[in-house]
Amino acid sequence: MTSPSHPDTHPSQSQTQQETILIPPSTATTFTRTLLEFHSVPPTHASIIAHCLVLADLRGVDSHGLNRLPSYLTRIRRGVLNPTATPTLTQKTPVVAQLDAHNGFGFVAARTAMDHAITMARDFGIGLVSVTHSNHFGMSAAFVQQAVEADMMSLVFTNSSPALPAWGGREKLMGVSPIACGAPAGGKDGAVPFILDMAPSVAARGKIYKAARRGEEIPGDWALDGEGRRTTDPAEALKGVMLPMGGAKGSALAIMMDVFSGVFSGAAFAGHVTGPYDPSREGDVGHFIVAIKPDLFMGLEEFKGRMDYLYQKVVGGERMEGVERIYYPGEIELETARRRGEEGIPYVRGEIEALNREADEVGIAHLAEI
Ligand SMILES: NC(=O)c1ccc[n+]([C@@H]2O[C@H](COP(=O)([O-])OP(=O)(O)OC[C@H]3O[C@@H](n4cnc5c(N)ncnc54)[C@H](O)[C@@H]3O)[C@@H](O)[C@H]2O)c1
Repeated sequence: MTSPSHPDTHPSQSQTQQETILIPPSTATTFTRTLLEFHSVPPTHASIIAHCLVLADLRGVDSHGLNRLPSYLTRIRRGVLNPTATPTLTQKTPVVAQLDAHNGFGFVAARTAMDHAITMARDFGIGLVSVTHSNHFGMSAAFVQQAVEADMMSLVFTNSSPALPAWGGREKLMGVSPIACGAPAGGKDGAVPFILDMAPSVAARGKIYKAARRGEEIPGDWALDGEGRRTTDPAEALKGVMLPMGGAKGSALAIMMDVFSGVFSGAAFAGHVTGPYDPSREGDVGHFIVAIKPDLFMGLEEFKGRMDYLYQKVVGGERMEGVERIYYPGEIELETARRRGEEGIPYVRGEIEALNREADEVGIAHLAEI
């Protein structure tokens, strides 16, 4: 199936009309799972990773979907990511546990951590899991969504490899580490759950890699080149630094992610995390995962009714000039997921070719014949 690109969550990147191939989510999931299993990833773990990557592509977060596979597989082949690692949990208090990811996939560590946090929250109202020795876990919203599906509020923090300067600096120090959180809603009159998932940079670095892959320009306020100048060339931007959103405040949020995910957990921090595109060393990423029972101070239905009311107030407010519709955090992604779930996920030719090259390496069926 071939179609022109259609608008998604990130209009700046869909302005360039490129031919895309629509892939059904089930095909993308099977392909990913098979590819991972051929790289020694146990089937249950491969399913978790495939679910998270396909969910990112479904939600329009293409920067953190299937296109990340080649970098993860390179890390396995270079021996810096352990495909067979099984996370271990150590209970510290009734509501606090530490998870050692043993240098396995971040997706598996975060999914396991959120599962355990939810179990603790069911019994005690809150559950916190600090994760160490992990790797890149992709789109944070996958784990917020996991909590929402269990009727839980959540915080999902991670640190990441250096890309962002401290405010006033020009060298890479902090990661573009996303801050994510969520809460379930009742769904009355179209109300959707609250799902915030944002990088503290003007844009996620994955979007620059995506623009580079697709031969697209980036907006001039996303990054500085290696000489400290603003640039619209993704290749030049990757030599320089990302710009924090909101100046010093974005830089402060990135430091916050490092305090809670890195310093606190025992994982690498202060610029020492290794990124997913650097296959020279183990990642040693840290995560901070919290689940909170929303019905601690009132019944669950009342909580959800209040969330629905908040939704209606947010999206029903007076609009500023030129704005057609006010969205709730996570709503654009939810609508994109619904549409892509029916139509298929659009991948550009170069992306499919890169994935098919991985398929050829291990002799499995292509994602699509192009
Ligand atoms: N694992 C890692 O190390 C890592 C690092 C960086 C980014 N990421 C991922 O990259 C993704 C992209 O991050 P981003 O900051 O570029 O996302 P974004 O700017 O597209 O969206 C950020 C948040 O703002 C909300 N939003 C966007 N437009 C809106 C609108 N018009 N009205 C209301 N709400 C709106 C979104 O729902 C989302 O919650 C995230 O999923 C993040 O987890 C991961």
